[in-house]
Amino acid sequence: MLSGKTVLVGITGGIAAYKICELIRMFKRVNANVRVVCTPNALNFVTKLTLQNLSQNEVGVEEFNIPDFKPEHISYADEADVMVIAPATANTISKLASGICDNLLTSVACAFHKPVIIAPAMNCNMWQNPIIQENLKNLKTYGYTILEPESGFLACGYQGQGRLCALEKIFDATVKKLSTKKILTGKKIIITAGGTIEDIDPVRYISNYSSGKMGIALADTAYELGSDVELVTTVPAKKPYVVTKVKSAFEMKNAVMEHFSDADCVIMAAAVADYHVKEKSAQKIKKTNDDEITLTLVKNPDILKSLCELKTHQTVVGFCAESENLLENAKEKISKKGCDYLIANDISRKDIGFSSDYNEVTILSSAGVVKELEKADKYTIARQIFEEIYG
Ligand code: PMT
Repeated sequence: MLSGKTVLVGITGGIAAYKICELIRMFKRVNANVRVVCTPNALNFVTKLTLQNLSQNEVGVEEFNIPDFKPEHISYADEADVMVIAPATANTISKLASGICDNLLTSVACAFHKPVIIAPAMNCNMWQNPIIQENLKNLKTYGYTILEPESGFLACGYQGQGRLCALEKIFDATVKKLSTKKILTGKKIIITAGGTIEDIDPVRYISNYSSGKMGIALADTAYELGSDVELVTTVPAKKPYVVTKVKSAFEMKNAVMEHFSDADCVIMAAAVADYHVKEKSAQKIKKTNDDEITLTLVKNPDILKSLCELKTHQTVVGFCAESENLLENAKEKISKKGCDYLIANDISRKDIGFSSDYNEVTILSSAGVVKELEKADKYTIARQIFEEIYG
């Protein structure tokens, strides 16, 4: 299963370090090459000799033990296909989130440019500390996979969340990372996310309930599947790929058009306002004695339709948000806009669509319904969409 792959196991100084001996054996049983790096504190819980015997490799602890011309942290990082840091203490998590490299393990992790899986384990109050949660959120943002600790009786005597997750979970996540087929390698994909904001005056605007979650799930997934990604978004996002922040439909159109000619695919998951205010007031509009006020709206450019008219080699994918007659309207929309695929979702449901972490979609092509995808989290939906288009 992992034959020919190198798993780099990073162990930090927590009581759960002893469990990692068994994790190393699990990797060895499926013929993985296992390298181990430890923080000095990890060796208070488990010996170097044990880890060396189990991994059948030398164990790295010292940063300046340079056997050849290559600095050790770079050698470890270059050699491995995946890095698993377990247990990850609050201290190491915080260092990783800040880019601190003060020992071999943190330096290797910083230099590592392939998947990193982090399995935290600590006291439940440390786990709940908002600083630690913020650091974990940042690591997730930058593409690290976090396997949350489980709840139960902790070694420190407390009851709560903080126990290292099951070793099988760490093992399965590692296998999954290494068996992901990079079906989008060599592709350049532009993805839009969020609702556009159309100003009325300096303090008011017209927008919609799009959170950007669907577009961001697509962008993260495309990146994981090997694509070059540009996310054009109205909601802020820190990502390891290119992010262009925009506000209005006009700005979104300009950003998408700028790189369209050399893109392979564009996915318009953003909820683009169909209209903007004809005359945006430079000053805050004052309340008057009148009971009514009239705003004149004018049509925004239809970005998706323009892309379809301009496209040469690109695959253009639209989304279709409907609150009634979903399929009927989607069929009409795909023929009007002329896109290769249209992803239809029902936005009248509270459990999917706008702002939800879940979606349930029907993929259409100009020939009709291609596939109906069952309700799932937006990352699963994103993966299934790419598998349908490029699998
Ligand atoms: O962001 P989330 O909270 O995760 O919610 C996800 C979502 C519901 C916003 C998403 O799944 C979705 O349906 N996005 C498309 C929303 C939309 O604008 O649908 P529409 O049917 O009005 O437009 C059809 C297509 O034309 C869309 O791809 C849209 O991006 C595009 N469009 C629309 C108007 C316009 N002026 N220019 C466009 O390009």
